[in-house]
Amino acid sequence: METIEMELKHEFISKLISHFEMKSYLEIGLGPLQETWKYINIENKICVDVIKVDDSLPTYLGTSDNFFEENTENFDLIYIDGDHRSDQVRKDLTNALKVLNPNGIIIMHDIAPASRTETDPRSSGDAYKILMETRKNPHLQAFTYFFRSGDAVGVIWRGKNSHVFSPDVVEDTYIMYENNKKDYLRPIYYDELIQEIESSFSS
Ligand SMILES: C[S@@+](CC[C@H](N)C(=O)[O-])C[C@H]1O[C@@H](n2cnc3c(N)ncnc32)[C@H](O)[C@@H]1O
Repeated sequence: METIEMELKHEFISKLISHFEMKSYLEIGLGPLQETWKYINIENKICVDVIKVDDSLPTYLGTSDNFFEENTENFDLIYIDGDHRSDQVRKDLTNALKVLNPNGIIIMHDIAPASRTETDPRSSGDAYKILMETRKNPHLQAFTYFFRSGDAVGVIWRGKNSHVFSPDVVEDTYIMYENNKKDYLRPIYYDELIQEIESSFSS
């Protein structure tokens, strides 16, 4: 079920930015190595982290909650990769949707654990539950793009959900996820993803 084409998150995000001629980028959770941030070429970019990296980074030093309280800007692409606990990721996604430009895209990391071990807070946490929640929303499209490494990102945008997936959760959430992975994640190849996004944006 994996859609394997690219290797790295920044490659994928940069391709989207360039394809949709985006002008503004927000990254929640810069990370000490700036593994994605340092490659993003765009007119306006802002990053948020609770840890100072150097004199100029992050551009906003503090929690994502505080950032969203103070922020007055809107963004074309928002990459959520901060605190991976589901309660925080839910808040980050809700806040991100409020400042997402029309025809904007949200990318989320850590939403496709390969095993229960990966849902440990020291690994990907339980951020995957938030992608599962978006799959119930009739007004959000959500797919997952898998990298060659097996790492993955969720891709979310405003548009008619073409496959609402909302089964009753009658067991442990991870087991629900494991047993219905394809419906929750909707793995997709890059070219198909672009077609899906363009079709939503033009309708
Ligand atoms: C996995 S790293 C980010 C990696 C980076 N986005 C990349 O692509 O390489 C997660 C970062 O989120 C930061 N973080 C944790 N909780 C946060 C919060 N509440 N608000 C903002 N950043 C947070 C951590 O300090 C850490 O640097």
